[in-house]
Amino acid sequence: MHSRLTRSPACRTAALLGMIALLLLAGCGEQRLPLSPRGQPDPLEGADPIRGRQLVDSYGCVACHTVPGVRGPSSNVGPPLEKMALRGYVGGVLPNNPYNLVRWLLDPPAVDPRTAMPNMGMSTADARHITAYLLTLD
Ligand code: HEC
Repeated sequence: MHSRLTRSPACRTAALLGMIALLLLAGCGEQRLPLSPRGQPDPLEGADPIRGRQLVDSYGCVACHTVPGVRGPSSNVGPPLEKMALRGYVGGVLPNNPYNLVRWLLDPPAVDPRTAMPNMGMSTADARHITAYLLTLD
């Protein structure tokens, strides 16, 4: 026999909201992880944002993205990359930090098989320069 409490819809709603709050808190914890996993070199060490901006130009990212500081056709295939430094997630799946941005740029479909952004065949060095540039956009 159920108690009055467990049968009350208000109570069930409260329990559900509690669970959602816990999940959201867990999500916040994830974003506070250290910028790069232990043992990994800092992805931005020696990275040059000015070189990064030139690379965004030469890789033709503006074919799909509007990028502040880089001339292009104002394409909207992908999201505009303005305020990239303030974005919570990369591609909607990885918490935004330098390590994950490099990871995304190197191989977006490896991060999210359904993404429309292709693997651009980028070197790790180029991905680090581009990441340094994107993180100046705030
Ligand atoms: C063929 C089109 C295309 C090209 C070329 C392209 N992208 Fe993307 N990009 C996308 C799409 C579409 C998304 C959204 C992906 C998603 O959320 O799954 C995306 C997402 C991103 C994101 C994550 C943005 C966010 O808010 O989550 C970054 C950063 C990014 N691209 C950078 C670049 C850079 C730098 C280049 C050039 C080296 C580039 N892209 C080239 C289509 C493209």
